[in-house]
Amino acid sequence: MATVTYITHDGDDYEAELVEGKSLMQTAVDEAIPGIDGDCGGEAACGTCHVIVDPTWITTVGRSGSVEEAMLSMHPEREANSRLSCQMSATEEWDGLTVRLPEFQL
Ligand code: FES
Repeated sequence: MATVTYITHDGDDYEAELVEGKSLMQTAVDEAIPGIDGDCGGEAACGTCHVIVDPTWITTVGRSGSVEEAMLSMHPEREANSRLSCQMSATEEWDGLTVRLPEFQL
């Protein structure tokens, strides 16, 4: 089973199963992981699914695209490895991926 770990700003970690083709936002919402709301349903329009990808994983998962970038650029807690998790469609190759959640999303 491939898994992803979400780490909250408080340091709590939550592991969930990665499902091929399913976004990291939807996985987090389905698993009731705190800090990822996904208010816009995955349209890259709300920013409530912001995650910061572990530096060792950014090459594998890729950086944000232009639509994603437009939303992230308005986010005060944006970091170099920030992504909108609704725009991250999981693959089995991401087994072991770790993402952090920004302080704002507690
Ligand atoms: Fe709204 Fe990702 S769910 S931007």
